[in-house]
Order: sequence, then C-alpha cells, then structure tokens
Amino acid sequence: MPKLSQCHNIADLRKRAKRKLPAPMFHYIDGGADDEWSMRRNTEAFDDYELMPNYLRNVDNIDLKTRVLGTELELPFFLSPTGMSRLFHHDKELGACRAADNFGTLYSLSTMATTSLEDVAAATAGPKMFQIYILKDRELTREFVQRCKTSGYQALCLTVDTPLAGNRERDLYNGMTMPPKITPRNFFSYGTSFEWLYNLTRDSDFRLANVVHRVDALDKGAMALIDYVNSQFDRTVTWEDAAWLAEQWDGPFVIKGIQSPADAQRAVEIGATALMVSNHGGRQLESAPAPVDCIAPIRDVIGNQLELIVDGGIRRGTHVIKALAQGADACSIGRPYLYGLASGGQQGVERALTLLKTEIERSLALMGVNSVTDLGPEHFKYLPQRY
Ligand code: FNR
Repeated sequence: MPKLSQCHNIADLRKRAKRKLPAPMFHYIDGGADDEWSMRRNTEAFDDYELMPNYLRNVDNIDLKTRVLGTELELPFFLSPTGMSRLFHHDKELGACRAADNFGTLYSLSTMATTSLEDVAAATAGPKMFQIYILKDRELTREFVQRCKTSGYQALCLTVDTPLAGNRERDLYNGMTMPPKITPRNFFSYGTSFEWLYNLTRDSDFRLANVVHRVDALDKGAMALIDYVNSQFDRTVTWEDAAWLAEQWDGPFVIKGIQSPADAQRAVEIGATALMVSNHGGRQLESAPAPVDCIAPIRDVIGNQLELIVDGGIRRGTHVIKALAQGADACSIGRPYLYGLASGGQQGVERALTLLKTEIERSLALMGVNSVTDLGPEHFKYLPQRY
C-alpha cells in the first residue's frame, strides 16, 4: 500500500482508501447510481475541454484567493457535504473541517453527518456551510436553521436532488448498513481491514449526530436511525418550500443539485444567492448531465445574479481551472477528500488538498495566468462532441 507521501494524485489516494477500508465502506464512497454512467461522465466531460496557454507573463506569484459565499477562501475549491464520515475514519467530520480550515477553505457539513453541527462549529473558526434537506419533519428543518444561526454558520445549502435515494447497487451487493453490521457472511470484507476494526474500539459512535435527538424524542424504539432519516425524505417538496426556507435564513443561501437553466432561474426568483451545479456525484439520477457541461447554459440565463459553484468529477487541478474558465466562481469536491480521510484521517484530507492546490498552481503558471480571477473564455476551447 502506498504511504500518504507516496500518493501523488487523487487516484493514488483512492487506491490507498480501497486497501484501508472494508469493502462496504469503500464502495459506499466510490459508487454511483445504476450503471454509474453519470458518475464516470462527470470526470470524463472535462476531457472535452482544452486549456490554452500564453507564455512570457511573469508567473512568479500565483494567487488562488477566491471570494464566494460572502467569504474569502485561500483556494478556489472547498469541501462538499458528505454524510457518515465516521464510517471512513475515526477523525470523521472533525478531521475534514480542521483540514479545510488549515488550508483556508470552507467545510460543508451534511445533515447526515456523524458529528453535530455544534461540535464542528466548536472545532474550527474557519468558514462553514450547513447542508439541509426539507424533511417531512418541518420542525426539525426549522430547528436546523436556528442551530446554524446560533453556531455561526456562514451559509446554508439546500440539496434538492434527493426527493428519494438513488439506486446504488454497489451498496446492495456489499451489504452496506448504517451503522455497520459485521456478520459471518460479510466478515471477510471487514476481517482484512485490521486498522479500521481496531479503530472501532476507540470510537464506535456512528450516530447521525444532527438528528439522533429527534428519533429519541419520537420514541421510535428499535427503529434504526437510518430508517427514520429515509422515511423523512419528502417527495412533495416544491419551490414554495424552498422559498419558505430561504426566508428564514439571512446569509448566503445555496441550492445544490441544479443542472437546468430553468431551475437556475427559479432559484434566482426565490432569493438564493448561489447554486451548486451538481448531480450529487452521479449518485442520484443516472444519465444526469456532467456539471461542467451545465455551467455555460446556466450562466447564459442567470448572468451574474447568482454565484455558481461546480461540484462533481473533479480529480485534477486542471478540472478546477476548466470550470473556472467557463464561468464558475468556485468548485467543490466530495470523493477526493473522502479518499484522503479514509487513507489517513485529517492528514489524508490535507494530502488531497495539497495535491489539488499544487496542481492548480502549477497548471496556472504553465498557462501564464497569475490569478484564478483572471481565467476566462480565452483560456479554454470546447472540443467537438466525440459521440
Ligand atoms: C455525497 N454527497 C452528498 N450531498 C449532499 O448534499 N448531502 C449528503 O449527505 C451527501 N452525502 C454524500 C456521501 C458520499 C459518500 C458522497 C461520495 C457524496 C454528494 C456530494 O456533496 C457531492 O455532490 C459529490 O460528492 C461531488 O462529486 P465528487 O467530487 O465526489 O465526484
């Protein structure tokens, strides 16, 4: 297994994560919906864009500072919300948010986190966003908003692409459960992950920390927490509900999961300040378009009325550059930092951030661009459709 310092790109971190984790955990991170076409396409779509260099421009100082969501970040990308980090490493959400803070970037905490939003707020002073769903239990949704205000979260992010869970077949084949259950049938896939098992003894708290009190209060007894949460996804949610939520939040309000220009226009109308152009990393609707291909059509419709953040498939610094050159204000990553977390906790997340940061700096210098804010249409070319 390569050491962290021998991981020279995100693909290496992925390999290390695969060796470190029991199969159900690795495939929960790594997998997507149905045939995983959208998931693969998210990354492959970046290959449809060429970068155009210009030389002799003094590239001694490369500036990655990015203003987005009312705050200045040191990097042009941040960490997307991902649930259940305790499954991957005992450093869990705290390791990821501390790594983000050390790199001067934003951490997004998922509703499905295994650390409470208060504990994350107490762990770092860095910028933080809370990702929310409009759940059937509207009281809980309202309570999240209040807790985020009290804990000083900069931004609120409503995920809209999850009226129900996507069809993730790898989880079915691997018997993925939350909390993890070790049975004679799946023992082999756990039995080889000695370190992961050993660390269970340090902290085996796999609770969904932001909602557990609600389940206790409802006295659901043996009902598994995950069943409660699954029962809370509300297929009746509409733009009126999103407007209701936006009204309750004073700061930057992000809608995550937008792919169509029509939805982007609705987001403007209900008072959102930013979009995360995303298909949930290809984990929800199979055949959804790659986010990088959605930037230009959305920009054409909304102009500068909203900030655009692109999330999905980013594995290289050049991917971030291609998104920014097309008009994204910032990018965000999911699996790359989770592979890091699984590979080595907070240090592993920091390795992922270092790799992407270094790749962006190097590529910008090779392009003759001094600042991410200088990127524009002259820096890329869209190649003709190949199929
Ligand atoms: C996610 N994602 C996600 N999104 C969200 O809004 N709420 C959530 O709880 C989760 N949970 C989650 C778990 C795991 C294991 C993954 C991989 C992803 C989606 C995430 O925020 C982001 O949109 C994608 O991960 C981006 O694609 P990449 O960077 O993973 O290719």
